Amino acid sequence: MDDLKVDGRRVLVRVDFNVPLAKGRVGDDTRIHAALPTVQALLDRGATLILMTHLGRPKGPSESERLEPVADRLAELLHREVRYLASDGPASEAQREFVAAAAAGSVTLLENTRFDPGETRNEPELARTLASYADVFVNDAFGAAHRSHASTEGVARLLPGAAGYLMARELEVLGRLKTDPEKPFTVIVGGAKVSDKIGVITRLLKVTDRILVAGAMAYTFFRAQGGQVGRSLVEEDKIATASDLLAKAEERGVELLLPVDSVCASEIESGVSTEVYPSGAIPEELIGLDAGPKAVQQFVAALRDCRTLFWNGPLGVFEVPPFDAGTRAIAQAVADLDAFTVVGGGDSVAALNVMGLQDRVDHVSTGGGASLEFLEGAELPGVTALTLDPRAG
Ligand code: 3PG
Repeated sequence: MDDLKVDGRRVLVRVDFNVPLAKGRVGDDTRIHAALPTVQALLDRGATLILMTHLGRPKGPSESERLEPVADRLAELLHREVRYLASDGPASEAQREFVAAAAAGSVTLLENTRFDPGETRNEPELARTLASYADVFVNDAFGAAHRSHASTEGVARLLPGAAGYLMARELEVLGRLKTDPEKPFTVIVGGAKVSDKIGVITRLLKVTDRILVAGAMAYTFFRAQGGQVGRSLVEEDKIATASDLLAKAEERGVELLLPVDSVCASEIESGVSTEVYPSGAIPEELIGLDAGPKAVQQFVAALRDCRTLFWNGPLGVFEVPPFDAGTRAIAQAVADLDAFTVVGGGDSVAALNVMGLQDRVDHVSTGGGASLEFLEGAELPGVTALTLDPRAG
């Protein structure tokens, strides 16, 4: 981005401000904070900014997914006015006039890009309209880089462009995990479903020394080992895949740890009575809902000697106490490590934020699906298009 000429020019910036909204306000502003260095640097260099983002998955204009709360929060964080007009979409007549009236050095946030059906279809006409708003393009939306949409891929083909600071940092840090992590490298993968994480586990098995599998996905692995997991979540059609991953880890000499015990209950309800059982011997009527106390000790001990750590996904049903204890304990252990620590995924990042630990890790990834796809080795269309000569578009 530093090589782009932006002084006195209009810069179209794709950000990922897909943030949770609650009662008309931004709930968690991590993603807005993360884009501030790029936005501020462009303003300091004399650019006029046209920002764009999607929010949610609307199929057209939707009152509950307008970007007004996002514009308000951005204005608070930047300490300056952020122009925003509620409209039918980023290419509507009203929006075009509003953009045309932007003064030099101002910041305008376009309406939710997904109000226009051409966004997810990557329609050239929408990309052309968006490109017509500016002279150059900066893509700082790492979280949306795996989407081939008009505001990510389409527009990058039409304007001279570059990655923003957040995008560059995400690619550098996650790229290092994939290819050149300082050893020993430990990975913690949690969350509900094995199916979401097969790709990333398979890829990281090539570079990691130790992988800790936690969360409900661990029960599919226990079943693969012949364990009894009661009513815990199991993906029956992924039991063979879990077996395969256990075999691959052994072949490669990677230590794959599963949580030795689980906090179990008969239902997922706050304050319900709980019992602890070995994770492979859970009574029929119970569900494993969090890592047990021995599993937490086992995991914390397994982290101690690592030089690089990547954590993605909660260890239990983090949003329903008391099943948040395992995730909280691991968040604290990760923050206390003297290693290069990277955390990604909504619930793991939320755990860090709730505990005020976000500044105690080296990198908090803003990408959910994007970071997993990137770590799996997939190409990110939003990044690839940036390297294309815009005149060829
Ligand atoms: C995300 O939240 O992971 C990104 O903003 C992408 O959102 P999407 O999955 O709706 O494309």
